[in-house]
Amino acid sequence: MHIATLTASDVTQYRELMLYAYATAPDAFTSTPEERAAEPEAWWLKRVADPSGQSIAFGAFQNSQLVGTVTIEFSVKPKTRHKAHLIGMFVHESCRGLGGGAQLVGAALAAARTRSEVRLVTLTVTEGNVPAITLYERCGFRAFGIEPMAIATPEGFKGKVHMWIPIDPITMASVSG
Ligand SMILES: CC(C)(COP(=O)(O)OP(=O)(O)OC[C@H]1O[C@@H](n2cnc3c(N)ncnc32)[C@H](O)[C@@H]1OP(=O)(O)O)[C@@H](O)C(=O)NCCC(=O)NCCS
Repeated sequence: MHIATLTASDVTQYRELMLYAYATAPDAFTSTPEERAAEPEAWWLKRVADPSGQSIAFGAFQNSQLVGTVTIEFSVKPKTRHKAHLIGMFVHESCRGLGGGAQLVGAALAAARTRSEVRLVTLTVTEGNVPAITLYERCGFRAFGIEPMAIATPEGFKGKVHMWIPIDPITMASVSG
């Protein structure tokens, strides 16, 4: 699987993959397929090629087909620019278990490490999503809390596990003691 930063030319494939993701893994995301399908072209273009550079989307490609993706968001606010946030993680089921998810997280963390102001990366994952939680733990993330009743699903409310990983030497050292 080939990992690359997404560009505006990937917008059609990205939209198609994510609408499929919202439909087939509904509990993994806070948006519905209907909400996202209603987003204008400009919203999707900003997701794959944010001109401000405040978010970067990565793709996993197999034979030029986009089969997986993740996005990392940065902050410009003085009080939160030390934190980046991982969102929109999905690998098509036909390509799972091949290491694409881990490669995508690795690419996002590598991008965060190039920004000297970023000291940690956070994410949230729905409670009980064992494949995703295991993937994130394998990539070095640790859970620090659970938001109760974070999303409404047909089976009832579910919590969101909050995870983080320190990425700069000072923060890493302070955590490891
Ligand atoms: C979670 C997801 C992205 C994993 O993608 P993937 O490409 O299959 O993951 P990888 O092949 O890179 O697996 C990396 C590690 O994750 C863990 N993992 C992946 N799938 C797993 C599963 N079904 N059960 C347990 N652990 C799993 C393993 O530790 C694995 O490493 P290993 O194979 O060396 O043991 C994929 O299952 C997915 O898209 N799920 C639906 C959407 C979703 O839940 N997104 C997360 C939103 S927070």
